[in-house]
Amino acid sequence: MINVAIDGPAGAGKSSIAKAVARDTGYIYTDTGALYRAVAYHALSRNISPDDSKAVTELLDGLEIKLEYRDGQQRVIADGKDVSDFIRTPEVSMGASKVSAVPEVRAFLFDLQKKMAAENNVIMDGRDIGTVVLPDAQLKIFLTASAEERARRRFAELNNKEGISFESILADIIKRDENDMNRPVSPLKQAEDAVLVDTTEMTIDEVITLIKKMIKETEEKEK
Ligand code: DC
Repeated sequence: MINVAIDGPAGAGKSSIAKAVARDTGYIYTDTGALYRAVAYHALSRNISPDDSKAVTELLDGLEIKLEYRDGQQRVIADGKDVSDFIRTPEVSMGASKVSAVPEVRAFLFDLQKKMAAENNVIMDGRDIGTVVLPDAQLKIFLTASAEERARRRFAELNNKEGISFESILADIIKRDENDMNRPVSPLKQAEDAVLVDTTEMTIDEVITLIKKMIKETEEKEK
């Protein structure tokens, strides 16, 4: 199996890019952030604060999280319920950043991620894929962009539908970067053998083309 790990900060474009590359290459796209989001959503919907690591840990007992693919789209199932459509709110984003700092949560989601990669050619995106989850991935990419550019993209994507200001998106991004990079377990950092791709000045199509080329080269090497 060929495993491609894409890590990087929130809003670097990992998911749109990984999705497009997966579609064009036939790899399975695994969005690991959705797993942390599902845990956060599950906690929030039971009135458990994502800050309360003890209560969040207790919640894991008996919780079943699964990934399913429907029409090529990843769906996250928590305790039998498809939560995919509820996990993209700012509240769940921040909650996911909080619960992802809890070691028990990371351990809980680890096997599911390993299994996906063992059974499929995957493009897996997250924060610790190249460093912790798939240290032997044949291709590792660290995708980043400046915080301002990431906030601009997210702002454009939301299209002011939710009435969220640019400033609050930027503040959220900076706060999440700080949480994700400074937590003691599996912090966001570039693996030593990862290729750094800074997309601040690139279009999404340029990034997709570049990564497809890297995958082709990796496949040639693995033959
Ligand atoms: O990629 P995302 O924005 O959907 O991720 C949501 C949160 O989950 C993010 O703030 C950090 C965390 N996360 C993580 O700690 N490790 C991963 N492999 C993926 C996400």
